[in-house]
Formats: sequence, structure tokens, C-alpha cells
Amino acid sequence: MQERLQKIIAATGVTSRRKAEELIVRGLVSVNGRAVTELGSKADPERDHIKVSGKLLTRSRSRVYLLLNKPTGYVSTLRDPEGRPTVVSLLGRIRERVYPVGRLDYHSSGLLLLTNDGELANLLMSRASAIPRTYHVKLEGHPEQGGLEKLRRGIVLDGQPTAPARIQALADRDKPWYEVTLVEGRYHQVRRMFERIGQEVLKLKRVRIAFLTDQGLTPGRFRHLTAAEVQRLKESVKGKV
Ligand code: URA
Repeated sequence: MQERLQKIIAATGVTSRRKAEELIVRGLVSVNGRAVTELGSKADPERDHIKVSGKLLTRSRSRVYLLLNKPTGYVSTLRDPEGRPTVVSLLGRIRERVYPVGRLDYHSSGLLLLTNDGELANLLMSRASAIPRTYHVKLEGHPEQGGLEKLRRGIVLDGQPTAPARIQALADRDKPWYEVTLVEGRYHQVRRMFERIGQEVLKLKRVRIAFLTDQGLTPGRFRHLTAAEVQRLKESVKGKV
């Protein structure tokens, strides 16, 4: 069956659909020996020989979906120019090349999905999918009256309003804890939101992504998603993007 080239490439896990489009435009994708630079081009993944940067695509790569409980002190990129430990170093026996779905900063801990399914990763990261992610956050002090309400309604970050957030108190101490649920994942979003109301985030832990929780997953450990969980994740983004 004929499908769009970028979709075929992303489905094998070598890269995301957006990156595949870049590669096509740059003339790095060929079908049966001929370079294809048109974005709407189609091919048959069962019959055609599709090469990306000179390498033949194979459909047999197995898909891997991992849920990691990242400890603080790890970067969620594949390599770090500063030489800090990466989340990949926590995946010992996993042979497949998996990519983190979004980021969790070095000083933050908690749930991170990793996969070689570029298509699903892309959908999950897209703003339109609005996947809820829940964080437990320890603040330096108590926000001033009205501060949390502002964050709940939305503030402007980088010239764009944030989507409404759910925020509720967890522990009312000198340094209080809050539970925060966002449906978008912008750069350092939680830390920057609280900074805006004069509060430094001392600890930040992601405890839930969609329906996936950290239950039974101690920091530094990961598990494979079940087939049912993968299916449910796919269904939660279907039709939204
Ligand atoms: N928001 C942040 O500020 N940092 C994270 O790691 C995730 C969300």
C-alpha cells in the first residue's frame, strides 16, 4: 500500500516525521535509487527500496516503549556536551536506540517515556495532543494571595499564553508541596511559572503522564509498557493532532 514517505520513515523509528520531512527536502531520501525531494511523495514500504542517508529502511525493527523513573542528576538527552550522565546510561540491557519523549531537566526527577517509535513520540510531544502531565513541586515559600489563581488561569510565557493548569496543595509546610497538572510541556515550564509569582521551585518530580504513574517504579528503574498501555496511549492522541 502506498503511504507518504515521511510517515513510512517515522514508523520505522529512525527519526520523527518532522525530521523525515527535512531529510526529504534535503534530498537525503531515495526510492528505488532515485532521490525524492517532494514532500507529498508516496511509496510502498513492502515493495520499494527506501534509503535514508544511504541506509536501507527495514520494517523489522522492533518497537520499544519504556517508562523510566529518572533520578535527579541525569540529562534526558542522548548525549551531553558537559559530560553529565544521561538517562540512556540507566537502560543497561536495552539494545534498541530509544529517544526520550520530551525533556525532564537535570535537577528534576520522575517519569520519562523513551521509545524508538518516532511517530508516537511526535504525537505525544505535539501541543495539540494535550496529554496531561502531573508534577509534585516543593516551593521555597508560600505564594502570595492570588498567585496560584494566576497560574491556574494561565500566564504569558515567551509571548504565548499557557493553557489552564490544575494546582492543588499537597502539604502545607514552611516549604509547601503542590500538585500541578499541565497539558503542555514548554521549556522549564513549571519552574518558570512559579518564578513568575516569586517562588523558587526547590524540587520537581513528574508523577504521572496521561494514565501512567510511578507506582512500583523506584528512581533509576524502568519498565516496558504493556501492549495495552501502548494502545491506550495511541488512542489518547488519535484524532487530536
Ligand atoms: N517543568 C520544568 O520546569 N522542568 C521539567 O523538567 C519539567 C517541567
